[in-house]
Amino acid sequence: MSARAGSFSFDRKDLSRFLFDLYDYEPKLLRKLISARPYVCPFEDIERHIPEDAKVLDVGCGNGALLAILLASGRVKVAVGCDVHEGALASARMAAERTGNAGHVSFLKIRGFEELPADSFDVVTMVDVLHHVPEGDRVKAVEEAIKRVAAGGIFLFKDMVEAPFWRRLAHNVDDLIFSGEWVRQVKTAKVEAQVKAAGFELFESLEIPRIFYGNTLRVFRRL
Ligand SMILES: C[S@@+](CC[C@H](N)C(=O)[O-])C[C@H]1O[C@@H](n2cnc3c(N)ncnc32)[C@H](O)[C@@H]1O
Repeated sequence: MSARAGSFSFDRKDLSRFLFDLYDYEPKLLRKLISARPYVCPFEDIERHIPEDAKVLDVGCGNGALLAILLASGRVKVAVGCDVHEGALASARMAAERTGNAGHVSFLKIRGFEELPADSFDVVTMVDVLHHVPEGDRVKAVEEAIKRVAAGGIFLFKDMVEAPFWRRLAHNVDDLIFSGEWVRQVKTAKVEAQVKAAGFELFESLEIPRIFYGNTLRVFRRL
């Protein structure tokens, strides 16, 4: 399975079908959940911030859906996905292989954010990771991620909204069912303040509702 740059569709239905086909080695329920992701996570709003031939670090890449999409679209030149979970990384490697562009990506198991690669990247993404990090460790997590952004590069932060209450609840119930955790939503204003104080400008700020869920997207550029 592969796709030429420019020929890849970011239509939600097409993305969903792409992920369903790509992850056919996963158990049926997980495969369905992965393929439902484009209806909740705004991949198209993430992708449009990735320049052609970018060097990308995906912090907390999980099973690698974002990187698989970027690889299949021919969008990235070099990508690194990092996660603490070896099982998720094994799935991410398999998915990358199946895009036909696995030569552009490597996956790294880390024990903590300080083990992120000591390199700089055009884009560093952190998608739905920070709400899984204990509150006391979140500043450090963001600090380690933004350290890896090259001058003029982008830090793309996507998480779930704190309000309204019912969207927060939908997210909590979802994470309780699928990860066994009652998560504490990220205080996005705190992330904004921290990243700006580190010398970044915030150039896009979006709240993106999807079904019962709410996404919060912040895109920063290192000045
Ligand atoms: C909800 S999943 C999101 C995965 C992926 N970013 C996505 O959007 O599909 C959260 C991921 O964060 C990872 N994670 C949690 N703490 C982490 C840490 N300290 N360092 C790296 N990854 C971490 C988990 O293992 C999990 O794969």
